[in-house]
Amino acid sequence: MYNIAVLPGDGIGPEIVEEAIKVLKAVGKRFGYEFNFTEALVGGAAYDAVGHPLPQETLDLCFNSDAVLLGAVGGDKWDNLPSHLRPEVGALLPLRKKLGLFANLRPAVIFPALVNASTLKPEVVEGLDIMVVRELTGGLYFGEKKKEEIPGGYRVVDTLVYTTEEIVRVARLAFDLAGKRRKKVTLVDKANVLESSRYWREVVTELAGEYPDIELDCLYVDNAAMQLVKNPKQFDVLLTENMFGDILSDQASQLTGSLGMLASASLGGKIGLYEPSHGSAPKYAGLKRANPIATIMSGAMLLRYSLNLENGARAIEEAITEVLNKYRTKDIMEEGKQLVSTDEMGDRIAGQILAG
Ligand code: IPM
Ligand code: MG
Repeated sequence: MYNIAVLPGDGIGPEIVEEAIKVLKAVGKRFGYEFNFTEALVGGAAYDAVGHPLPQETLDLCFNSDAVLLGAVGGDKWDNLPSHLRPEVGALLPLRKKLGLFANLRPAVIFPALVNASTLKPEVVEGLDIMVVRELTGGLYFGEKKKEEIPGGYRVVDTLVYTTEEIVRVARLAFDLAGKRRKKVTLVDKANVLESSRYWREVVTELAGEYPDIELDCLYVDNAAMQLVKNPKQFDVLLTENMFGDILSDQASQLTGSLGMLASASLGGKIGLYEPSHGSAPKYAGLKRANPIATIMSGAMLLRYSLNLENGARAIEEAITEVLNKYRTKDIMEEGKQLVSTDEMGDRIAGQILAG
Protein backbone atom coordinates (compact mmCIF):
# COMPACT_ATOMS: atom_id res chain seq x y z
CA MET A 1 0.00 0.00 0.00
CA TYR A 2 1.35 3.39 -1.01
CA ASN A 3 0.33 6.59 0.76
CA ILE A 4 0.06 9.61 -1.48
CA ALA A 5 -0.56 13.12 -0.13
CA VAL A 6 -2.73 15.11 -2.50
CA LEU A 7 -2.59 18.91 -2.44
CA PRO A 8 -4.96 20.22 -5.12
CA GLY A 9 -4.35 23.91 -4.38
CA ASP A 10 -5.92 26.76 -6.34
CA GLY A 11 -7.38 27.66 -9.71
CA ILE A 12 -7.35 24.69 -12.07
CA GLY A 13 -5.37 22.68 -9.46
CA PRO A 14 -8.32 20.64 -8.13
CA GLU A 15 -9.68 19.67 -11.57
CA ILE A 16 -6.34 18.53 -13.00
CA VAL A 17 -5.35 16.66 -9.85
CA GLU A 18 -8.66 14.80 -9.95
CA GLU A 19 -7.73 13.44 -13.38
CA ALA A 20 -4.26 12.39 -12.23
CA ILE A 21 -5.82 10.47 -9.35
CA LYS A 22 -8.28 8.83 -11.74
CA VAL A 23 -5.38 7.67 -13.90
CA LEU A 24 -3.30 6.46 -10.94
CA LYS A 25 -6.31 4.47 -9.74
CA ALA A 26 -6.53 2.86 -13.17
CA VAL A 27 -2.85 1.91 -12.90
CA GLY A 28 -3.54 0.45 -9.45
CA LYS A 29 -6.38 -1.60 -10.80
CA ARG A 30 -4.46 -2.91 -13.78
CA PHE A 31 -1.29 -3.89 -11.90
CA GLY A 32 -2.78 -4.65 -8.48
CA TYR A 33 -1.26 -1.74 -6.53
CA GLU A 34 -3.08 -0.11 -3.69
CA PHE A 35 -2.81 3.65 -3.49
CA ASN A 36 -4.18 5.52 -0.54
CA PHE A 37 -4.84 9.18 -1.40
CA THR A 38 -5.21 11.75 1.39
CA GLU A 39 -6.07 15.34 0.57
CA ALA A 40 -4.86 18.46 2.35
CA LEU A 41 -5.11 22.19 1.87
CA VAL A 42 -2.37 24.31 0.34
CA GLY A 43 -2.03 27.80 -1.14
CA GLY A 44 -4.87 30.29 -1.32
CA ALA A 45 -7.39 27.55 -0.53
CA ALA A 46 -5.58 26.91 2.76
CA TYR A 47 -5.28 30.61 3.51
CA ASP A 48 -9.02 31.07 3.01
CA ALA A 49 -9.87 28.08 5.19
CA VAL A 50 -7.40 28.37 8.04
CA GLY A 51 -5.49 31.66 7.60
CA HIS A 52 -2.17 30.19 6.43
CA PRO A 53 -1.15 28.93 2.97
CA LEU A 54 0.89 26.02 4.38
CA PRO A 55 -0.81 24.63 7.50
CA GLN A 56 1.22 22.39 9.81
CA GLU A 57 -1.31 19.64 9.21
CA THR A 58 -0.50 19.68 5.51
CA LEU A 59 3.23 19.48 6.18
CA ASP A 60 2.72 16.60 8.60
CA LEU A 61 0.69 14.71 6.01
CA CYS A 62 3.46 15.20 3.41
CA PHE A 63 6.13 13.93 5.80
CA ASN A 64 4.02 10.87 6.58
CA SER A 65 3.41 9.93 2.94
CA ASP A 66 5.40 8.10 0.30
CA ALA A 67 5.02 10.95 -2.20
CA VAL A 68 3.17 14.22 -2.72
CA LEU A 69 1.01 15.12 -5.72
CA LEU A 70 0.33 18.84 -6.07
CA GLY A 71 -1.91 20.78 -8.47
CA ALA A 72 -0.97 24.45 -8.51
CA VAL A 73 -1.14 27.44 -6.18
CA GLY A 74 -1.80 31.14 -6.47
CA GLY A 75 -4.26 33.58 -7.98
CA ASP A 76 -5.09 37.30 -8.16
CA LYS A 77 -7.21 36.96 -5.05
CA TRP A 78 -4.15 36.46 -2.83
CA ASP A 79 -1.64 38.61 -4.75
CA ASN A 80 -1.77 41.53 -2.36
CA LEU A 81 -1.30 39.62 0.88
CA PRO A 82 1.96 40.11 2.78
CA SER A 83 4.56 37.98 1.08
CA HIS A 84 4.79 35.24 3.77
CA LEU A 85 1.04 34.58 3.33
CA ARG A 86 1.04 34.49 -0.46
CA PRO A 87 0.53 31.01 -1.94
CA GLU A 88 3.84 31.01 -3.85
CA VAL A 89 6.22 32.47 -1.26
CA GLY A 90 4.30 31.29 1.81
CA ALA A 91 3.47 27.74 0.69
CA LEU A 92 5.12 26.37 -2.44
CA LEU A 93 8.68 27.56 -1.76
CA PRO A 94 8.75 26.54 1.93
CA LEU A 95 7.18 23.19 1.01
CA ARG A 96 10.00 22.53 -1.48
CA LYS A 97 12.58 23.72 1.05
CA LYS A 98 11.25 21.76 4.02
CA LEU A 99 11.04 18.55 2.01
CA GLY A 100 14.64 19.12 0.89
CA LEU A 101 13.72 19.03 -2.80
CA PHE A 102 16.80 20.56 -4.33
CA ALA A 103 16.39 19.07 -7.81
CA ASN A 104 13.48 19.75 -10.11
CA LEU A 105 13.24 17.50 -13.15
CA ARG A 106 11.19 18.83 -16.04
CA PRO A 107 11.12 16.53 -19.05
CA ALA A 108 10.31 18.25 -22.33
CA VAL A 109 9.33 15.31 -24.50
CA ILE A 110 7.25 15.53 -27.63
CA PHE A 111 4.57 12.92 -28.21
CA PRO A 112 4.59 11.87 -31.88
CA ALA A 113 0.97 13.00 -32.34
CA LEU A 114 1.86 16.54 -31.24
CA VAL A 115 4.68 17.20 -33.67
CA ASN A 116 2.41 19.53 -35.61
CA ALA A 117 0.88 21.12 -32.51
CA SER A 118 4.09 22.90 -31.59
CA THR A 119 4.55 26.43 -32.86
CA LEU A 120 7.96 25.31 -34.12
CA LYS A 121 8.49 23.47 -37.38
CA PRO A 122 7.93 19.70 -37.14
CA GLU A 123 11.52 18.90 -38.14
CA VAL A 124 12.82 21.07 -35.29
CA VAL A 125 10.86 19.26 -32.57
CA GLU A 126 10.24 15.74 -33.87
CA GLY A 127 11.84 13.24 -31.47
CA LEU A 128 12.64 15.93 -28.91
CA ASP A 129 13.58 14.58 -25.46
CA ILE A 130 15.18 17.09 -23.10
CA MET A 131 15.45 16.88 -19.33
CA VAL A 132 15.71 20.22 -17.56
CA VAL A 133 17.32 19.80 -14.13
CA ARG A 134 16.58 22.96 -12.20
CA GLU A 135 18.14 23.67 -8.81
CA LEU A 136 15.09 24.29 -6.63
CA THR A 137 15.95 25.40 -3.11
CA GLY A 138 18.62 28.06 -3.56
CA GLY A 139 19.49 31.12 -5.60
CA LEU A 140 17.41 34.25 -5.93
CA TYR A 141 14.25 32.52 -4.70
CA PHE A 142 15.68 31.93 -1.24
CA GLY A 143 18.37 34.61 -0.77
CA GLU A 144 17.94 37.56 1.55
CA LYS A 145 15.42 40.12 0.32
CA LYS A 146 15.06 43.76 1.30
CA LYS A 147 12.98 46.77 0.52
CA GLU A 148 14.21 49.93 2.21
CA GLU A 149 13.07 53.47 1.86
CA ILE A 150 15.63 55.92 0.56
CA PRO A 151 15.31 59.53 -0.53
CA GLY A 152 13.36 59.52 -3.77
CA GLY A 153 11.85 56.05 -3.33
CA TYR A 154 13.11 52.62 -2.37
CA ARG A 155 16.13 50.41 -2.60
CA VAL A 156 15.21 46.78 -3.31
CA VAL A 157 17.46 43.75 -2.96
CA ASP A 158 17.27 40.07 -3.90
CA THR A 159 20.33 37.97 -3.16
CA LEU A 160 21.64 35.05 -5.20
CA VAL A 161 23.46 32.62 -2.93
CA TYR A 162 24.86 29.12 -3.56
CA THR A 163 27.24 26.95 -1.58
CA THR A 164 29.59 24.30 -2.96
CA GLU A 165 27.43 21.54 -1.50
CA GLU A 166 24.25 22.90 -3.06
CA ILE A 167 25.87 22.93 -6.49
CA VAL A 168 27.52 19.53 -6.20
CA ARG A 169 24.41 17.62 -5.13
CA VAL A 170 22.19 18.82 -7.97
CA ALA A 171 25.01 18.51 -10.51
CA ARG A 172 25.64 14.93 -9.40
CA LEU A 173 21.98 14.14 -9.93
CA ALA A 174 22.16 15.66 -13.43
CA PHE A 175 25.25 13.61 -14.34
CA ASP A 176 23.66 10.43 -13.00
CA LEU A 177 20.53 11.07 -15.05
CA ALA A 178 22.54 11.84 -18.18
CA GLY A 179 24.31 8.51 -17.68
CA LYS A 180 20.98 6.77 -18.25
CA ARG A 181 20.17 8.97 -21.25
CA ARG A 182 22.27 10.35 -24.09
CA LYS A 183 25.25 11.18 -21.86
CA LYS A 184 25.37 14.92 -22.29
CA VAL A 185 25.00 17.67 -19.69
CA THR A 186 24.72 21.32 -20.65
CA LEU A 187 25.29 23.72 -17.78
CA VAL A 188 23.37 26.94 -18.34
CA ASP A 189 24.68 30.01 -16.55
CA LYS A 190 25.75 33.61 -16.91
CA ALA A 191 29.43 33.10 -16.14
CA ASN A 192 30.45 36.13 -18.18
CA VAL A 193 28.75 38.36 -15.57
CA LEU A 194 27.82 36.57 -12.34
CA GLU A 195 30.25 35.42 -9.67
CA SER A 196 27.86 32.64 -8.67
CA SER A 197 27.77 31.36 -12.25
CA ARG A 198 31.56 31.37 -12.47
CA TYR A 199 31.66 29.20 -9.39
CA TRP A 200 28.94 26.85 -10.71
CA ARG A 201 31.13 26.36 -13.80
CA GLU A 202 34.20 25.66 -11.71
CA VAL A 203 32.43 23.14 -9.49
CA VAL A 204 30.52 21.38 -12.26
CA THR A 205 33.58 21.18 -14.51
CA GLU A 206 35.57 19.59 -11.71
CA LEU A 207 32.78 17.13 -10.95
CA ALA A 208 32.62 16.18 -14.62
CA GLY A 209 36.06 14.58 -14.09
CA GLU A 210 34.29 11.83 -12.14
CA TYR A 211 32.03 11.13 -15.13
CA PRO A 212 34.41 10.43 -18.02
CA ASP A 213 31.67 9.03 -20.26
CA ILE A 214 29.55 12.16 -19.99
CA GLU A 215 30.10 15.18 -22.16
CA LEU A 216 29.80 18.55 -20.39
CA ASP A 217 29.00 21.73 -22.25
CA CYS A 218 28.62 25.18 -20.70
CA LEU A 219 26.34 27.77 -22.24
CA TYR A 220 25.37 31.30 -21.30
CA VAL A 221 21.68 31.52 -20.55
CA ASP A 222 20.91 34.04 -23.31
CA ASN A 223 22.54 31.77 -25.85
CA ALA A 224 20.75 28.74 -24.38
CA ALA A 225 17.39 30.49 -24.79
CA MET A 226 18.18 31.10 -28.43
CA GLN A 227 19.51 27.56 -29.06
CA LEU A 228 16.39 26.10 -27.45
CA VAL A 229 14.22 27.39 -30.27
CA LYS A 230 16.84 27.14 -33.00
CA ASN A 231 18.01 23.59 -32.47
CA PRO A 232 16.56 22.07 -29.30
CA LYS A 233 17.50 18.51 -30.17
CA GLN A 234 21.18 19.27 -29.49
CA PHE A 235 20.32 19.08 -25.76
CA ASP A 236 20.01 16.08 -23.47
CA VAL A 237 20.18 17.21 -19.83
CA LEU A 238 20.08 20.97 -19.17
CA LEU A 239 21.45 21.77 -15.72
CA THR A 240 20.78 25.17 -14.26
CA GLU A 241 20.22 27.27 -11.16
CA ASN A 242 16.75 28.04 -9.86
CA MET A 243 15.72 31.20 -11.71
CA PHE A 244 17.18 30.32 -15.12
CA GLY A 245 15.56 26.89 -14.80
CA ASP A 246 12.17 28.43 -14.10
CA ILE A 247 12.37 30.51 -17.24
CA LEU A 248 13.94 27.95 -19.57
CA SER A 249 11.54 25.18 -18.55
CA ASP A 250 8.50 27.24 -19.55
CA GLN A 251 10.21 27.89 -22.85
CA ALA A 252 11.08 24.22 -23.31
CA SER A 253 7.47 23.25 -22.61
CA GLN A 254 6.31 25.13 -25.66
CA LEU A 255 8.46 22.88 -27.86
CA THR A 256 6.23 20.00 -26.79
CA GLY A 257 3.06 21.70 -27.93
CA SER A 258 1.82 23.34 -24.75
CA LEU A 259 2.75 24.31 -21.23
CA GLY A 260 -0.05 21.90 -20.34
CA MET A 261 2.22 19.00 -21.33
CA LEU A 262 5.17 19.68 -19.01
CA ALA A 263 5.34 17.49 -15.91
CA SER A 264 7.77 17.81 -13.06
CA ALA A 265 9.35 15.85 -10.24
CA SER A 266 11.06 17.52 -7.32
CA LEU A 267 13.59 15.24 -5.71
CA GLY A 268 16.43 15.23 -3.22
CA GLY A 269 14.71 14.57 0.11
CA LYS A 270 13.04 11.43 1.38
CA ILE A 271 9.67 12.37 -0.09
CA GLY A 272 9.30 13.50 -3.68
CA LEU A 273 6.86 16.16 -4.84
CA TYR A 274 5.13 15.93 -8.21
CA GLU A 275 3.39 18.84 -9.87
CA PRO A 276 2.78 20.18 -13.37
CA SER A 277 5.25 22.91 -14.35
CA HIS A 278 2.44 25.30 -15.14
CA GLY A 279 0.54 27.57 -12.77
CA SER A 280 -3.00 27.68 -11.41
CA ALA A 281 -4.51 29.55 -14.40
CA PRO A 282 -7.27 31.16 -12.27
CA LYS A 283 -9.18 32.40 -15.28
CA TYR A 284 -9.78 28.83 -16.47
CA ALA A 285 -10.68 27.47 -13.03
CA GLY A 286 -13.79 25.31 -13.07
CA LEU A 287 -14.22 25.55 -16.84
CA LYS A 288 -12.95 22.02 -17.41
CA ARG A 289 -10.91 23.06 -20.40
CA ALA A 290 -7.44 22.83 -18.85
CA ASN A 291 -5.10 20.14 -20.10
CA PRO A 292 -4.57 17.57 -17.29
CA ILE A 293 -1.72 15.75 -19.07
CA ALA A 294 1.13 17.61 -17.30
CA THR A 295 -0.35 16.52 -13.98
CA ILE A 296 -1.06 12.98 -15.18
CA MET A 297 2.54 12.74 -16.43
CA SER A 298 3.69 14.05 -13.04
CA GLY A 299 1.79 11.08 -11.62
CA ALA A 300 3.82 8.85 -13.94
CA MET A 301 7.01 10.44 -12.59
CA LEU A 302 5.73 9.79 -9.06
CA LEU A 303 5.41 6.09 -9.86
CA ARG A 304 8.86 6.04 -11.45
CA TYR A 305 10.93 8.05 -8.98
CA SER A 306 9.19 7.65 -5.61
CA LEU A 307 7.52 4.24 -5.81
CA ASN A 308 9.82 2.55 -8.28
CA LEU A 309 6.83 1.30 -10.31
CA GLU A 310 8.31 1.66 -13.77
CA ASN A 311 5.62 -0.49 -15.41
CA GLY A 312 2.91 1.85 -14.10
CA ALA A 313 4.78 4.92 -15.32
CA ARG A 314 5.20 3.34 -18.77
CA ALA A 315 1.53 2.37 -18.92
CA ILE A 316 0.57 6.01 -18.36
CA GLU A 317 2.96 7.27 -21.02
CA GLU A 318 1.79 4.69 -23.52
CA ALA A 319 -1.86 5.45 -22.83
CA ILE A 320 -1.27 9.17 -23.41
CA THR A 321 0.60 8.44 -26.64
CA GLU A 322 -2.40 6.48 -27.86
CA VAL A 323 -5.13 8.86 -26.70
CA LEU A 324 -3.46 11.89 -28.29
CA ASN A 325 -3.95 10.32 -31.71
CA LYS A 326 -7.65 11.09 -31.39
CA TYR A 327 -8.49 13.35 -28.48
CA ARG A 328 -7.26 16.83 -27.57
CA THR A 329 -7.86 19.50 -24.99
CA LYS A 330 -8.18 23.03 -26.32
CA ASP A 331 -4.50 24.02 -25.90
CA ILE A 332 -3.32 21.25 -28.25
CA MET A 333 -6.38 21.01 -30.49
CA GLU A 334 -5.76 20.33 -34.20
CA GLU A 335 -8.06 19.80 -37.14
CA GLY A 336 -9.38 16.25 -37.41
CA LYS A 337 -9.13 15.57 -33.67
CA GLN A 338 -11.93 15.47 -31.16
CA LEU A 339 -12.01 18.28 -28.63
CA VAL A 340 -12.45 16.99 -25.07
CA SER A 341 -12.79 18.53 -21.62
CA THR A 342 -10.38 18.08 -18.73
CA ASP A 343 -12.31 15.16 -17.26
CA GLU A 344 -12.97 13.47 -20.60
CA MET A 345 -9.22 13.51 -21.24
CA GLY A 346 -8.71 11.83 -17.86
CA ASP A 347 -11.40 9.27 -18.67
CA ARG A 348 -9.82 8.41 -22.03
CA ILE A 349 -6.36 7.94 -20.54
CA ALA A 350 -7.65 5.89 -17.60
CA GLY A 351 -9.77 3.82 -20.01
CA GLN A 352 -6.77 3.18 -22.23
CA ILE A 353 -4.73 1.97 -19.26
CA LEU A 354 -7.45 -0.44 -18.21
CA ALA A 355 -7.85 -1.69 -21.78
CA GLY A 356 -4.06 -1.99 -22.20
C1 IPM B 1 7.17 26.90 -11.22
C2 IPM B 1 6.38 28.12 -10.83
C3 IPM B 1 6.81 28.57 -9.45
C4 IPM B 1 8.32 28.83 -9.51
C5 IPM B 1 6.06 29.77 -8.91
C6 IPM B 1 4.56 29.53 -8.85
C7 IPM B 1 6.57 30.23 -7.57
O1 IPM B 1 6.56 29.12 -11.78
O2 IPM B 1 7.04 25.88 -10.51
O3 IPM B 1 7.88 26.96 -12.22
O4 IPM B 1 8.74 29.89 -9.96
O5 IPM B 1 9.07 27.94 -9.10
MG1 MG C 1 7.66 28.51 -13.50
